[in-house]
Amino acid sequence: MIRYESQKVARYYLGLALILFCLQVAMGLWLAINYAFTLPQGLVDVFSFATARAIHTNTLVAWMLLGFMGGSYFILPIECKRELFSVKIAYLQLLIFAGTAVTAVIGFLFGWTQGKPLLEIPVPLDFLIVVAALLFVANVAMTIILAKERSIIQWMLLAGVTFLAVLYLFGMPFFKDLNVDYYYWWWVIHLWVEGAWELFTAAIAAFIIIEVTGVERKVVEKWLYVETGLFLFTGLVGTGHHYYWIGSPDYWLWWGGIFSALEPLPVALMVLDTWMHIRERKNPIVNPLLWTYIMGLALFHFLGAGVFGFIHTLPPVNYYTHGSQITVSHGHLAFFGAYALLNLVVFYFAMPQLKGIEKFDDRLGVWGFWTMVTAMIFIGLIFGVAGVLQTYLERILDLGYRTAQMNMMFWFRAVLFFGAIFLSGVLMTVYHLFTLKKAAD
Ligand code: HEM
Ligand SMILES: [Fe+2]
Repeated sequence: MIRYESQKVARYYLGLALILFCLQVAMGLWLAINYAFTLPQGLVDVFSFATARAIHTNTLVAWMLLGFMGGSYFILPIECKRELFSVKIAYLQLLIFAGTAVTAVIGFLFGWTQGKPLLEIPVPLDFLIVVAALLFVANVAMTIILAKERSIIQWMLLAGVTFLAVLYLFGMPFFKDLNVDYYYWWWVIHLWVEGAWELFTAAIAAFIIIEVTGVERKVVEKWLYVETGLFLFTGLVGTGHHYYWIGSPDYWLWWGGIFSALEPLPVALMVLDTWMHIRERKNPIVNPLLWTYIMGLALFHFLGAGVFGFIHTLPPVNYYTHGSQITVSHGHLAFFGAYALLNLVVFYFAMPQLKGIEKFDDRLGVWGFWTMVTAMIFIGLIFGVAGVLQTYLERILDLGYRTAQMNMMFWFRAVLFFGAIFLSGVLMTVYHLFTLKKAAD
């Protein structure tokens, strides 16, 4: 039931994203085992923690970007009322991106890495990513430029993906002064998740809400302006919350503290915004699971990014919690709540249509959703407990790193337990998405 032939390219993007999602989470379980037990040195020598971590975090970035790109290719034709500018470019770009991702993962196994967390892929491969990104942005831009009707959603999407691509460049050069290197590394990491990706999320969520609810465009777009304005206002200067302890000028304590403390505001508005649209909806809800995912996204986005971000963003708190398991707790809740769920919203919106199914049988998917959401809440809370313990032992009692870790092992075992449950939720969801069937009437 797709409306435009070129939307079909999305199928391969989304499929590959789902496979990498499984790999990412499986690697996460392996990391938890590393923390929960003392492994034999021989094993660590051949497959180190650092390698597993690089695979865990880079496959995370890769599958989410694939989902964003596939999602854009699915949504743009509908929003622009025309085919994509070039299907060939879309396939070529996928080939380059997927080839680079696979090479990067194999490379990690042999120690070929640039060593910057989340962006470990080496510089020659970075250039290939840049080529793929340029093809993508050009394809999106041309499709929008050639569209007969203009909408704010189109422009926000274009702004989001262009901003995303440009920022990637700042992670490529290596500065010998590590302070400088980290300064720019944050431009990628922070300005991605709290800038470019938020724009993208706002645009995609708005589009899907309009499609599903039939709420008037004007109503949704009005909110988009407010949210975007606020995101840029708080998110850009909010970068300062990463400059407290890396040798940057100390005015960042104030700037970063105040602006980043305001960051939950736009996210909260998104929740409110979704809520209003639900009340004003006109269309009947055909697929309740997609609906559940949209509300899950709104609430979990607020919890993980807004609440758990705010908790440790002020300098007097961050002084103690910086780089601890508290950071890990927030990282998991925020990435899952905002971007894993956004991607899943896109998958549950697009994949039934790609299969020509209007109303799908959602039983397994419902199990998948609740298993993942419940397990992730526990994972976040347990990392949080480990983090409070770590902060107390290491930074208040001044005990050594290893002593603190030994005292935290129980909590890592608990994370391992809930991680296994989370993985089962992921497998259910991915299997469900790959084998979607019509609902029995
Ligand atoms: C969806 C949006 C967000 C995502 C995906 C996200 C993700 C992350 C991740 C992965 C880290 C760890 C980076 C590292 O040290 O390697 C981090 C750090 C941090 N985040 Fe977020 N974040 C988001 C939004 C926010 C918001 C809105 C706030 C503030 C209100 C915030 C506050 C912080 C702070 C203060 C740190 C530094 C922690 C430390 O000093 O160790 N984040 N975030
Ligand atoms: Fe940040």
